[in-house]
Amino acid sequence: MSEEVIHEHPMTNSHVLVQEFDYLEPGSLEEAILLLSKYGDRAQVMAGGTNMLVWMKMEQKSPEYVINIGKLPGLEGVAFRDGRLDIGALTKIRAVRNAPEIQTDYTALADACAAFGSTQIQLVGTIGGNLCNGSPASDTVPPLVAFDAQLALAGPDGERMVSVEEFLVRPGKVALQKGELLTSVQLQRPQPGTGSAFVKVSRVAADLAKVSVAAVLVREGDLIADCRLAFGSVGSTVLRAREAEAMLIGKTSSSELALEAGRAASEEITPIDDVRSTAWYRREVVKAITHDVLQVAWERAGEQRGRGTEETRKQGDKETRRQGEIRNTRYATRGTEHEIQLTVNGVQRRLKVKPNELLLNVLRERLELTGSKYGCGIGECGACTVQLDGQPALSCLVLAIAADGSEVLTVEGLQGSDGELDPLQEAFIEHNAFQCGYCTPGMLMMTKNLLSENPSPTEDEIRDHLKGNRCRCTGYTSIVRAVMSCADPQAAEK
Ligand SMILES: Cc1cc2nc3c(=O)[nH]c(=O)nc-3n(C[C@H](O)[C@H](O)[C@H](O)COP(=O)(O)OP(=O)(O)OC[C@H]3O[C@@H](n4cnc5c(N)ncnc54)[C@H](O)[C@@H]3O)c2cc1C
Ligand code: FES
Ligand code: FES
Repeated sequence: MSEEVIHEHPMTNSHVLVQEFDYLEPGSLEEAILLLSKYGDRAQVMAGGTNMLVWMKMEQKSPEYVINIGKLPGLEGVAFRDGRLDIGALTKIRAVRNAPEIQTDYTALADACAAFGSTQIQLVGTIGGNLCNGSPASDTVPPLVAFDAQLALAGPDGERMVSVEEFLVRPGKVALQKGELLTSVQLQRPQPGTGSAFVKVSRVAADLAKVSVAAVLVREGDLIADCRLAFGSVGSTVLRAREAEAMLIGKTSSSELALEAGRAASEEITPIDDVRSTAWYRREVVKAITHDVLQVAWERAGEQRGRGTEETRKQGDKETRRQGEIRNTRYATRGTEHEIQLTVNGVQRRLKVKPNELLLNVLRERLELTGSKYGCGIGECGACTVQLDGQPALSCLVLAIAADGSEVLTVEGLQGSDGELDPLQEAFIEHNAFQCGYCTPGMLMMTKNLLSENPSPTEDEIRDHLKGNRCRCTGYTSIVRAVMSCADPQAAEK
């Protein structure tokens, strides 16, 4: 197993990505494995980059080679295959959340994806990255442990399967060997009478868990025939509470039994005091959320749920693995400029960028499109949100070189060619939905996207969509009001 080296440095400046690296974009899984084997610990894989680019900006990781696997074919999608649900490692959290198979048969996993800190992170972060970062606070991991997920790892010696529990070693450390990549997450089809749920407690909606729990149980009449409980953020990895599980299995479900299981679980976990919570609070909260998660899973187990259809996810590159040559990798050397093409607000732009240049800086400093704002630089405020190929993206966490060939829409592009403001911009003015205006471009880009997907959102849906966008002065009431004024009442009636 390769050991992860974390370099401790104070963050210098989150506006820019100071360190230099060679950028590699392999065209196939086979080439990605060859590159990883070749460069070993000097390389880091990047999928969505929501962890990687933050670690690099904070100078906690300093890879010499960044291998962007985000565009590899065949590793994205959710489908039943050979009687199991197969989730490609590059599947975005938002796509997992919205997959009908997951909503019906693996509801705890859909809950966990919905609980993710921000819409922008859900749209870019992958399930593979959430597992491979090795964090005990990763939201998808408790449900994956509770469902006993199996992980497919591809490496120089072929493919091997490990259970998710074997995969988690300790904080920041997973059981990937040299040259290995996670390619898919596989879940057994749940037996009839299965229900599941996930509960997360965090400081604010847009935050990592203080504590989280997933329950998967099988209901037979009034009896709990089987049960698995997995807890996040209360130990060095996600933990099962086996004594609490044993206490539940074979018993008649009741609120008292669920409370008893919560008390047992609070003794089994091994929490610590840290910046997000205290060990004492975590133990207390586990008693309550274990009760709640069991009650919801029990109710869901009683509902008639649909079953996903059998389908094969294309794995076009699987057969071509290990042919031994690197032919289809884009290679951009550190410190030198490489040509990219972007269509920004409908205009084609050719630019030369270094591998460590960020899209936000290119937009603001090269193209003088200063509408997108620099706030935190680490994905937490949403001020830099643009649309990339039609989806919101945090431009402070996008390498410009990785966006080559994309269409970018910034707040400047919302105006019509005659200079007329977009109706949403007019609504923000009419409802006084800004004071200093710093967050406004990000708010507009997010709500424009929401209204295109959901023309008549509820207040809760607007607030959920905007949970990754921070406003420091206006408050959210007038922003929500402005968005609601643009909702289509006819769509709501349908
Ligand atoms: C503002 C913000 C809010 C966040 N909120 C949450 C939250 O609420 N809940 C939560 O759980 N997480 C949260 N995260 C963390 C992060 O977004 C998720 O863990 C996300 O799923 C990571 O996926 P990614 O594709 O971006 O990973 P990357 O950053 O690309 O990679 C993460 C790690 O996994 C490795 N890796 C990625 N894919 C593979 C693969 N297929 N094979 C081998 N190694 C791989 C990379 O080398 C790296 O070490 C948040 C992050 C930010 C910046
Ligand atoms: S500047 Fe990008 S999220 Fe804050
Ligand atoms: S209007 Fe000032 S930060 Fe939102």
